[in-house]
Amino acid sequence: MTSNIDYIDKIPNNVDLGRDRVLQRALEHWQPAYMGWWYDMGPNESHNYDVYLRTAISVDAEGWAVFDYVKMPQYRWGIFLVPPTQGREVNFGVNKGQPAWQDVPGEYRSMLRRLIVTQGDTEPASVEQQRMLGMCAPSLYDLRNIYQVNVEEGRHLWAMVYLLHRYFGRDGREEAEALLDRRSGDVDNPRILGAFNEPTPDWLAFYMFTFFTDRDGKFQLSSLAESGFDPLARTCRFMLTEEAHHMFVGETGVGRIVQRTAEVMAEHRVDDPDHVRALGVIDLQTVQRYLNFHYSVTLDLFGGDVSSNAASFYTTGLKGRYEETKIQDDHQLTDATYKVGTVKDGRVIDEEIPALNALNERLRDDYIGEVQAGVDRWNKTIEKSGIPFRLTLPHKGFHRQIGNFAGQFISPGGDVLTAGQWNAKRDEWLPGQADYTFVQAMMTGRVVEPGKFANWIAPPRRGIHTQPIDFEYVRFN
Ligand SMILES: [Fe+2]
Ligand SMILES: [Fe+2]
Repeated sequence: MTSNIDYIDKIPNNVDLGRDRVLQRALEHWQPAYMGWWYDMGPNESHNYDVYLRTAISVDAEGWAVFDYVKMPQYRWGIFLVPPTQGREVNFGVNKGQPAWQDVPGEYRSMLRRLIVTQGDTEPASVEQQRMLGMCAPSLYDLRNIYQVNVEEGRHLWAMVYLLHRYFGRDGREEAEALLDRRSGDVDNPRILGAFNEPTPDWLAFYMFTFFTDRDGKFQLSSLAESGFDPLARTCRFMLTEEAHHMFVGETGVGRIVQRTAEVMAEHRVDDPDHVRALGVIDLQTVQRYLNFHYSVTLDLFGGDVSSNAASFYTTGLKGRYEETKIQDDHQLTDATYKVGTVKDGRVIDEEIPALNALNERLRDDYIGEVQAGVDRWNKTIEKSGIPFRLTLPHKGFHRQIGNFAGQFISPGGDVLTAGQWNAKRDEWLPGQADYTFVQAMMTGRVVEPGKFANWIAPPRRGIHTQPIDFEYVRFN
Protein backbone atom coordinates (compact mmCIF):
# COMPACT_ATOMS: atom_id res chain seq x y z
CA MET A 1 0.00 0.00 0.00
CA THR A 2 1.40 3.43 -0.88
CA SER A 3 2.32 5.57 2.11
CA ASN A 4 2.51 8.84 0.22
CA ILE A 5 -1.13 9.64 -0.12
CA ASP A 6 -2.46 13.15 -0.28
CA TYR A 7 -5.13 12.77 2.31
CA ILE A 8 -6.79 16.06 1.66
CA ASP A 9 -7.42 14.78 -1.80
CA LYS A 10 -7.70 11.12 -0.94
CA ILE A 11 -10.33 11.45 1.76
CA PRO A 12 -13.08 13.67 0.43
CA ASN A 13 -14.41 15.60 3.40
CA ASN A 14 -16.18 18.71 4.57
CA VAL A 15 -14.55 18.78 8.01
CA ASP A 16 -11.42 20.70 7.08
CA LEU A 17 -9.28 17.63 7.45
CA GLY A 18 -6.29 19.37 5.88
CA ARG A 19 -6.14 21.89 8.73
CA ASP A 20 -5.94 19.34 11.52
CA ARG A 21 -2.53 17.68 11.39
CA VAL A 22 -3.05 15.40 14.38
CA LEU A 23 -6.30 14.07 13.05
CA GLN A 24 -4.86 13.69 9.60
CA ARG A 25 -1.97 11.61 10.97
CA ALA A 26 -4.32 9.45 12.97
CA LEU A 27 -6.40 8.71 9.88
CA GLU A 28 -3.19 8.10 7.90
CA HIS A 29 -2.43 5.29 10.27
CA TRP A 30 -5.91 3.86 10.13
CA GLN A 31 -6.44 4.09 6.35
CA PRO A 32 -4.05 1.27 5.28
CA ALA A 33 -5.57 -0.98 7.95
CA TYR A 34 -9.01 -0.20 6.54
CA MET A 35 -7.82 -1.06 3.03
CA GLY A 36 -6.33 -4.30 4.35
CA TRP A 37 -9.68 -5.11 5.90
CA TRP A 38 -11.49 -4.32 2.62
CA TYR A 39 -9.16 -6.58 0.60
CA ASP A 40 -9.65 -9.41 3.11
CA MET A 41 -13.27 -9.01 4.10
CA GLY A 42 -14.85 -6.90 1.32
CA PRO A 43 -16.85 -8.53 -1.50
CA ASN A 44 -15.12 -11.69 -2.70
CA GLU A 45 -13.15 -11.52 -6.00
CA SER A 46 -14.50 -8.06 -6.73
CA HIS A 47 -11.41 -5.90 -6.52
CA ASN A 48 -10.82 -5.55 -10.23
CA TYR A 49 -14.44 -5.10 -11.33
CA ASP A 50 -15.70 -1.80 -12.69
CA VAL A 51 -18.96 -1.13 -10.86
CA TYR A 52 -21.47 1.58 -11.66
CA LEU A 53 -21.58 3.18 -8.23
CA ARG A 54 -22.85 6.24 -6.49
CA THR A 55 -20.26 8.20 -4.54
CA ALA A 56 -21.16 10.87 -2.01
CA ILE A 57 -19.34 14.07 -2.90
CA SER A 58 -21.17 16.76 -0.94
CA VAL A 59 -24.02 17.34 1.47
CA ASP A 60 -26.20 19.48 -0.80
CA ALA A 61 -29.63 17.99 -1.10
CA GLU A 62 -29.30 18.65 -4.83
CA GLY A 63 -26.54 16.57 -6.36
CA TRP A 64 -24.92 15.06 -3.30
CA ALA A 65 -23.65 12.08 -5.27
CA VAL A 66 -22.10 11.18 -8.60
CA PHE A 67 -22.64 7.92 -10.53
CA ASP A 68 -19.81 6.33 -12.50
CA TYR A 69 -17.75 3.18 -12.96
CA VAL A 70 -15.41 2.62 -10.03
CA LYS A 71 -13.13 -0.19 -8.94
CA MET A 72 -14.23 -0.66 -5.37
CA PRO A 73 -10.79 -0.47 -3.72
CA GLN A 74 -10.57 2.98 -5.33
CA TYR A 75 -13.94 4.08 -3.97
CA ARG A 76 -13.58 7.50 -2.38
CA TRP A 77 -14.74 6.87 1.15
CA GLY A 78 -15.30 10.35 2.48
CA ILE A 79 -16.24 12.11 5.70
CA PHE A 80 -19.35 14.23 5.50
CA LEU A 81 -21.41 15.99 8.13
CA VAL A 82 -24.50 17.99 7.32
CA PRO A 83 -23.89 21.71 7.93
CA PRO A 84 -24.34 22.93 11.51
CA THR A 85 -27.64 24.53 12.49
CA GLN A 86 -27.06 27.95 14.02
CA GLY A 87 -28.06 28.05 17.68
CA ARG A 88 -28.85 24.33 17.88
CA GLU A 89 -29.60 23.17 21.44
CA VAL A 90 -29.75 19.94 23.38
CA ASN A 91 -33.41 19.15 22.76
CA PHE A 92 -34.26 16.66 25.52
CA GLY A 93 -33.22 15.32 28.89
CA VAL A 94 -31.83 17.18 31.88
CA ASN A 95 -29.56 19.34 29.71
CA LYS A 96 -32.41 20.50 27.50
CA GLY A 97 -31.95 24.12 26.43
CA GLN A 98 -28.16 24.15 26.70
CA PRO A 99 -26.24 24.88 23.50
CA ALA A 100 -25.55 21.61 21.63
CA TRP A 101 -22.11 20.26 22.54
CA GLN A 102 -19.35 20.77 20.00
CA ASP A 103 -16.97 18.76 22.16
CA VAL A 104 -17.51 15.65 24.23
CA PRO A 105 -18.89 16.50 27.68
CA GLY A 106 -16.36 14.92 30.06
CA GLU A 107 -18.87 13.20 32.31
CA TYR A 108 -20.57 11.46 29.36
CA ARG A 109 -17.41 10.49 27.55
CA SER A 110 -17.48 6.71 28.01
CA MET A 111 -21.22 6.48 27.40
CA LEU A 112 -20.87 8.42 24.17
CA ARG A 113 -17.91 6.37 23.03
CA ARG A 114 -19.90 3.20 23.61
CA LEU A 115 -22.80 4.49 21.51
CA ILE A 116 -20.46 5.37 18.64
CA VAL A 117 -18.52 2.10 18.82
CA THR A 118 -21.71 0.02 18.90
CA GLN A 119 -23.07 1.81 15.84
CA GLY A 120 -19.69 1.71 14.08
CA ASP A 121 -19.32 -2.03 14.65
CA THR A 122 -22.45 -2.85 12.65
CA GLU A 123 -21.13 -1.19 9.48
CA PRO A 124 -18.18 -3.48 8.62
CA ALA A 125 -20.06 -6.45 10.10
CA SER A 126 -22.68 -6.44 7.35
CA VAL A 127 -19.98 -6.24 4.65
CA GLU A 128 -18.40 -9.35 6.17
CA GLN A 129 -21.76 -11.13 6.33
CA GLN A 130 -22.46 -10.45 2.65
CA ARG A 131 -19.03 -10.97 1.14
CA MET A 132 -19.73 -14.23 -0.75
CA LEU A 133 -23.08 -13.24 -2.25
CA GLY A 134 -21.68 -11.58 -5.36
CA MET A 135 -20.74 -15.03 -6.62
CA CYS A 136 -24.40 -15.98 -7.05
CA ALA A 137 -26.05 -12.66 -7.90
CA PRO A 138 -29.36 -12.97 -9.80
CA SER A 139 -28.43 -10.12 -12.22
CA LEU A 140 -25.90 -7.37 -12.90
CA TYR A 141 -28.42 -4.91 -11.48
CA ASP A 142 -28.57 -6.78 -8.16
CA LEU A 143 -24.82 -7.32 -8.11
CA ARG A 144 -24.30 -3.60 -8.45
CA ASN A 145 -26.78 -2.96 -5.68
CA ILE A 146 -25.08 -5.21 -3.15
CA TYR A 147 -21.74 -3.61 -3.97
CA GLN A 148 -23.32 -0.18 -3.49
CA VAL A 149 -24.58 -1.18 -0.08
CA ASN A 150 -21.16 -2.61 0.81
CA VAL A 151 -19.12 0.48 -0.11
CA GLU A 152 -21.57 2.71 1.75
CA GLU A 153 -21.36 0.58 4.88
CA GLY A 154 -17.63 1.08 4.50
CA ARG A 155 -18.22 4.82 4.40
CA HIS A 156 -20.41 4.60 7.50
CA LEU A 157 -17.49 2.96 9.27
CA TRP A 158 -15.36 5.92 8.19
CA ALA A 159 -18.00 8.26 9.61
CA MET A 160 -17.85 6.65 13.07
CA VAL A 161 -14.07 6.29 12.97
CA TYR A 162 -13.77 9.98 12.20
CA LEU A 163 -15.68 10.76 15.40
CA LEU A 164 -13.53 8.37 17.43
CA HIS A 165 -10.30 9.85 16.09
CA ARG A 166 -11.40 13.44 16.23
CA TYR A 167 -13.00 13.48 19.69
CA PHE A 168 -11.67 10.58 21.75
CA GLY A 169 -7.88 10.72 21.49
CA ARG A 170 -5.96 7.59 22.26
CA ASP A 171 -8.81 5.35 23.32
CA GLY A 172 -10.74 6.50 20.26
CA ARG A 173 -7.84 5.33 18.07
CA GLU A 174 -7.77 2.00 19.86
CA GLU A 175 -11.50 1.56 19.35
CA ALA A 176 -11.07 2.40 15.66
CA GLU A 177 -8.51 -0.36 15.32
CA ALA A 178 -10.71 -2.83 17.19
CA LEU A 179 -13.49 -2.09 14.68
CA LEU A 180 -11.24 -3.65 12.02
CA ASP A 181 -10.22 -6.59 14.21
CA ARG A 182 -13.59 -8.02 15.20
CA ARG A 183 -15.17 -10.36 12.65
CA SER A 184 -18.79 -11.26 12.08
CA GLY A 185 -19.47 -14.72 13.47
CA ASP A 186 -15.95 -15.17 14.88
CA VAL A 187 -15.93 -17.37 17.96
CA ASP A 188 -13.15 -15.48 19.74
CA ASN A 189 -13.66 -11.93 18.54
CA PRO A 190 -17.22 -11.51 17.24
CA ARG A 191 -19.07 -8.35 16.30
CA ILE A 192 -20.83 -6.67 19.22
CA LEU A 193 -24.51 -7.32 18.39
CA GLY A 194 -26.18 -10.67 17.77
CA ALA A 195 -27.82 -10.10 14.39
CA PHE A 196 -24.46 -9.02 12.99
CA ASN A 197 -22.95 -12.40 13.78
CA GLU A 198 -25.62 -14.36 11.92
CA PRO A 199 -24.68 -15.61 8.46
CA THR A 200 -26.31 -14.07 5.37
CA PRO A 201 -26.12 -17.24 3.28
CA ASP A 202 -28.22 -16.35 0.22
CA TRP A 203 -29.98 -13.52 -1.58
CA LEU A 204 -33.32 -13.99 0.13
CA ALA A 205 -31.48 -13.54 3.42
CA PHE A 206 -29.67 -10.50 1.99
CA TYR A 207 -32.90 -8.77 0.97
CA MET A 208 -34.49 -9.62 4.32
CA PHE A 209 -31.41 -8.24 6.05
CA THR A 210 -31.46 -4.96 4.13
CA PHE A 211 -35.20 -4.61 4.67
CA PHE A 212 -35.24 -5.46 8.39
CA THR A 213 -31.76 -4.92 9.75
CA ASP A 214 -30.68 -1.89 7.73
CA ARG A 215 -33.94 -0.37 8.90
CA ASP A 216 -32.90 -0.93 12.49
CA GLY A 217 -29.86 1.10 11.39
CA LYS A 218 -32.18 3.83 10.18
CA PHE A 219 -33.97 4.05 13.51
CA GLN A 220 -30.75 3.99 15.53
CA LEU A 221 -29.20 6.65 13.30
CA SER A 222 -32.36 8.74 13.51
CA SER A 223 -32.26 8.78 17.29
CA LEU A 224 -28.53 9.52 17.27
CA ALA A 225 -29.24 12.32 14.77
CA GLU A 226 -31.17 13.95 17.66
CA SER A 227 -28.07 13.81 19.88
CA GLY A 228 -27.00 16.83 21.88
CA PHE A 229 -23.45 15.97 20.77
CA ASP A 230 -23.63 17.95 17.56
CA PRO A 231 -20.93 16.21 15.46
CA LEU A 232 -22.66 12.87 16.04
CA ALA A 233 -26.03 14.31 15.10
CA ARG A 234 -24.67 15.85 11.90
CA THR A 235 -22.80 12.67 10.90
CA CYS A 236 -25.83 10.44 11.39
CA ARG A 237 -28.09 12.85 9.55
CA PHE A 238 -25.97 12.43 6.45
CA MET A 239 -25.66 8.65 6.81
CA LEU A 240 -29.45 8.46 6.66
CA THR A 241 -29.45 9.75 3.07
CA GLU A 242 -27.43 6.69 2.02
CA GLU A 243 -29.40 4.29 4.22
CA ALA A 244 -32.60 4.88 2.26
CA HIS A 245 -31.19 3.05 -0.75
CA HIS A 246 -30.22 0.03 1.34
CA MET A 247 -33.79 -0.39 2.54
CA PHE A 248 -35.02 0.13 -1.03
CA VAL A 249 -32.81 -2.75 -2.14
CA GLY A 250 -34.30 -4.94 0.60
CA GLU A 251 -37.94 -4.05 0.10
CA THR A 252 -37.86 -4.31 -3.68
CA GLY A 253 -35.71 -7.45 -3.51
CA VAL A 254 -38.21 -9.35 -1.39
CA GLY A 255 -41.02 -7.72 -3.39
CA ARG A 256 -39.58 -9.01 -6.67
CA ILE A 257 -39.18 -12.52 -5.25
CA VAL A 258 -42.78 -12.73 -4.03
CA GLN A 259 -43.97 -11.18 -7.30
CA ARG A 260 -42.18 -13.84 -9.33
CA THR A 261 -43.43 -16.65 -7.09
CA ALA A 262 -47.01 -15.42 -7.14
CA GLU A 263 -46.94 -15.05 -10.93
CA VAL A 264 -45.66 -18.59 -11.39
CA MET A 265 -48.22 -19.94 -8.90
CA ALA A 266 -51.04 -18.20 -10.75
CA GLU A 267 -49.83 -19.26 -14.17
CA HIS A 268 -49.45 -22.93 -13.22
CA ARG A 269 -52.33 -23.00 -10.74
CA VAL A 270 -50.24 -24.53 -7.97
CA ASP A 271 -50.11 -23.72 -4.27
CA ASP A 272 -48.43 -26.72 -2.66
CA PRO A 273 -44.94 -25.52 -1.60
CA ASP A 274 -43.26 -28.58 -3.15
CA HIS A 275 -44.94 -27.94 -6.48
CA VAL A 276 -43.99 -24.28 -6.28
CA ARG A 277 -40.37 -25.22 -5.60
CA ALA A 278 -40.40 -27.65 -8.49
CA LEU A 279 -41.11 -24.71 -10.78
CA GLY A 280 -37.83 -23.06 -9.76
CA VAL A 281 -39.17 -20.30 -7.53
CA ILE A 282 -39.19 -19.79 -3.77
CA ASP A 283 -42.42 -20.87 -2.07
CA LEU A 284 -44.10 -18.19 0.02
CA GLN A 285 -43.96 -20.37 3.15
CA THR A 286 -40.17 -20.25 2.97
CA VAL A 287 -40.29 -16.49 2.46
CA GLN A 288 -42.46 -16.30 5.61
CA ARG A 289 -39.93 -18.34 7.62
CA TYR A 290 -37.07 -16.10 6.53
CA LEU A 291 -39.20 -13.10 7.46
CA ASN A 292 -39.86 -14.56 10.93
CA PHE A 293 -36.15 -15.09 11.47
CA HIS A 294 -34.86 -11.71 10.31
CA TYR A 295 -37.64 -9.79 12.01
CA SER A 296 -37.09 -11.47 15.38
CA VAL A 297 -33.31 -11.18 15.46
CA THR A 298 -33.60 -7.55 14.39
CA LEU A 299 -36.12 -6.77 17.14
CA ASP A 300 -33.45 -7.89 19.60
CA LEU A 301 -31.10 -5.17 18.29
CA PHE A 302 -33.22 -2.53 19.97
CA GLY A 303 -32.23 -3.92 23.37
CA GLY A 304 -34.13 -4.73 26.55
CA ASP A 305 -37.75 -3.59 26.93
CA VAL A 306 -36.88 -2.19 30.34
CA SER A 307 -33.53 -0.46 30.12
CA SER A 308 -31.75 1.89 32.47
CA ASN A 309 -29.05 2.41 29.83
CA ALA A 310 -31.63 3.73 27.41
CA ALA A 311 -32.87 6.02 30.18
CA SER A 312 -29.34 7.34 30.77
CA PHE A 313 -28.68 7.91 27.07
CA TYR A 314 -31.87 9.96 26.94
CA THR A 315 -31.62 11.84 30.21
CA THR A 316 -28.09 12.96 29.42
CA GLY A 317 -29.13 14.18 25.96
CA LEU A 318 -26.96 11.73 23.99
CA LYS A 319 -29.64 9.69 22.19
CA GLY A 320 -33.16 10.92 21.51
CA ARG A 321 -36.37 9.30 20.43
CA TYR A 322 -37.27 8.80 16.77
CA GLU A 323 -38.06 12.30 15.44
CA GLU A 324 -37.65 13.74 18.93
CA THR A 325 -38.09 17.37 17.94
CA LYS A 326 -41.38 16.64 16.16
CA ILE A 327 -42.90 15.11 19.31
CA GLN A 328 -45.16 17.41 21.36
CA ASP A 329 -44.33 16.80 25.02
CA ASP A 330 -41.91 17.98 27.70
CA HIS A 331 -38.91 16.01 26.31
CA GLN A 332 -38.04 15.02 29.89
CA LEU A 333 -40.44 12.12 30.41
CA THR A 334 -40.16 12.33 34.17
CA ASP A 335 -43.81 11.39 34.85
CA ALA A 336 -44.72 9.65 31.59
CA THR A 337 -45.34 5.92 31.30
CA TYR A 338 -45.21 3.49 28.39
CA LYS A 339 -46.61 0.00 27.79
CA VAL A 340 -44.26 -2.94 27.39
CA GLY A 341 -45.23 -6.56 26.83
CA THR A 342 -44.29 -9.25 29.29
CA VAL A 343 -45.33 -12.79 30.23
CA LYS A 344 -47.40 -13.32 33.36
CA ASP A 345 -49.28 -16.48 34.39
CA GLY A 346 -48.74 -18.05 30.99
CA ARG A 347 -50.06 -15.09 29.01
CA VAL A 348 -48.61 -12.05 27.30
CA ILE A 349 -49.80 -8.90 29.02
CA ASP A 350 -49.00 -5.20 28.80
CA GLU A 351 -47.32 -3.51 31.70
CA GLU A 352 -47.06 0.26 32.28
CA ILE A 353 -43.53 1.28 33.17
CA PRO A 354 -41.76 4.65 33.39
CA ALA A 355 -41.36 5.95 29.82
CA LEU A 356 -37.70 6.71 30.43
CA ASN A 357 -36.97 3.03 30.95
CA ALA A 358 -39.07 2.01 27.96
CA LEU A 359 -37.23 4.00 25.28
CA ASN A 360 -35.86 0.91 23.53
CA GLU A 361 -39.37 -0.49 23.36
CA ARG A 362 -40.75 2.76 22.03
CA LEU A 363 -38.13 2.87 19.25
CA ARG A 364 -38.91 -0.79 18.50
CA ASP A 365 -42.61 0.09 18.17
CA ASP A 366 -41.81 2.98 15.81
CA TYR A 367 -39.77 0.54 13.77
CA ILE A 368 -42.52 -2.10 13.71
CA GLY A 369 -44.97 0.44 12.28
CA GLU A 370 -42.70 1.06 9.31
CA VAL A 371 -41.93 -2.61 8.80
CA GLN A 372 -45.65 -3.45 8.76
CA ALA A 373 -46.20 -0.93 5.96
CA GLY A 374 -43.56 -2.70 3.88
CA VAL A 375 -45.11 -6.12 4.50
CA ASP A 376 -48.47 -4.68 3.42
CA ARG A 377 -46.90 -3.62 0.13
CA TRP A 378 -45.53 -7.15 -0.44
CA ASN A 379 -49.01 -8.51 0.21
CA LYS A 380 -50.48 -6.15 -2.39
CA THR A 381 -48.08 -7.65 -4.91
CA ILE A 382 -49.19 -11.18 -4.03
CA GLU A 383 -52.85 -10.14 -4.10
CA LYS A 384 -52.46 -8.73 -7.61
CA SER A 385 -51.71 -12.22 -8.90
CA GLY A 386 -54.89 -13.53 -7.27
CA ILE A 387 -52.98 -15.70 -4.79
CA PRO A 388 -54.67 -15.84 -1.34
CA PHE A 389 -51.44 -16.26 0.72
CA ARG A 390 -50.48 -13.30 2.95
CA LEU A 391 -47.20 -12.61 4.74
CA THR A 392 -47.52 -11.60 8.38
CA LEU A 393 -45.24 -10.24 11.09
CA PRO A 394 -44.98 -12.71 13.96
CA HIS A 395 -45.77 -11.60 17.49
CA LYS A 396 -43.19 -9.27 19.02
CA GLY A 397 -42.28 -11.95 21.58
CA PHE A 398 -41.61 -14.68 19.03
CA HIS A 399 -38.03 -16.09 19.02
CA ARG A 400 -36.53 -13.33 21.15
CA GLN A 401 -33.20 -13.57 22.95
CA ILE A 402 -33.19 -10.17 24.62
CA GLY A 403 -35.69 -8.45 26.88
CA ASN A 404 -38.87 -9.57 28.61
CA PHE A 405 -39.55 -12.37 26.12
CA ALA A 406 -36.09 -13.94 26.30
CA GLY A 407 -36.38 -17.49 27.65
CA GLN A 408 -40.08 -17.65 26.78
CA PHE A 409 -41.56 -19.82 24.05
CA ILE A 410 -43.99 -17.60 22.17
CA SER A 411 -45.70 -18.72 18.98
CA PRO A 412 -45.92 -16.37 15.96
CA GLY A 413 -49.56 -15.84 17.00
CA GLY A 414 -48.55 -14.71 20.50
CA ASP A 415 -49.41 -17.81 22.55
CA VAL A 416 -47.11 -18.79 25.39
CA LEU A 417 -46.02 -22.40 24.83
CA THR A 418 -43.81 -24.94 26.53
CA ALA A 419 -40.33 -25.57 25.13
CA GLY A 420 -41.55 -28.93 23.79
CA GLN A 421 -44.57 -27.45 22.02
CA TRP A 422 -42.49 -24.68 20.53
CA ASN A 423 -39.65 -26.92 19.34
CA ALA A 424 -42.10 -29.30 17.68
CA LYS A 425 -43.17 -26.38 15.46
CA ARG A 426 -39.78 -24.81 14.98
CA ASP A 427 -39.26 -25.87 11.36
CA GLU A 428 -42.69 -24.58 10.43
CA TRP A 429 -41.81 -21.16 11.81
CA LEU A 430 -38.12 -20.66 11.15
CA PRO A 431 -35.91 -21.61 8.23
CA GLY A 432 -34.27 -25.00 8.73
CA GLN A 433 -31.36 -26.65 7.00
CA ALA A 434 -33.65 -28.01 4.29
CA ASP A 435 -34.82 -24.47 3.44
CA TYR A 436 -31.29 -23.11 3.27
CA THR A 437 -30.19 -26.03 1.12
CA PHE A 438 -33.11 -25.49 -1.24
CA VAL A 439 -32.61 -21.72 -1.55
CA GLN A 440 -28.87 -22.05 -2.05
CA ALA A 441 -29.29 -24.75 -4.67
CA MET A 442 -31.35 -22.25 -6.61
CA MET A 443 -28.56 -19.68 -6.44
CA THR A 444 -25.57 -21.61 -7.66
CA GLY A 445 -24.44 -19.40 -10.53
CA ARG A 446 -24.15 -15.70 -11.20
CA VAL A 447 -26.31 -14.18 -13.93
CA VAL A 448 -23.99 -11.91 -15.93
CA GLU A 449 -25.85 -11.07 -19.11
CA PRO A 450 -27.13 -7.47 -18.99
CA GLY A 451 -30.92 -7.37 -18.60
CA LYS A 452 -31.19 -11.07 -17.66
CA PHE A 453 -32.55 -12.20 -14.28
CA ALA A 454 -32.51 -15.49 -12.41
CA ASN A 455 -35.76 -17.43 -12.68
CA TRP A 456 -36.68 -16.90 -9.01
CA ILE A 457 -36.87 -13.10 -9.10
CA ALA A 458 -38.80 -10.58 -11.21
CA PRO A 459 -36.91 -7.72 -12.91
CA PRO A 460 -37.08 -4.34 -11.18
CA ARG A 461 -39.40 -1.68 -12.50
CA ARG A 462 -36.55 0.57 -13.52
CA GLY A 463 -32.77 0.74 -13.55
CA ILE A 464 -30.35 2.68 -11.39
CA HIS A 465 -30.05 6.45 -11.71
CA THR A 466 -31.02 7.15 -15.31
CA GLN A 467 -29.78 3.84 -16.73
CA PRO A 468 -31.94 1.15 -18.34
CA ILE A 469 -32.48 -2.24 -16.69
CA ASP A 470 -30.19 -3.94 -19.23
CA PHE A 471 -27.31 -1.56 -18.56
CA GLU A 472 -23.91 -3.18 -17.95
CA TYR A 473 -23.85 -2.31 -14.22
CA VAL A 474 -20.74 -4.40 -13.56
CA ARG A 475 -17.82 -5.07 -15.91
CA PHE A 476 -15.74 -8.03 -14.81
CA ASN A 477 -12.53 -7.31 -16.83
FE1 LIG B 1 -24.77 1.72 7.58
FE1 LIG C 1 -27.14 0.24 5.57
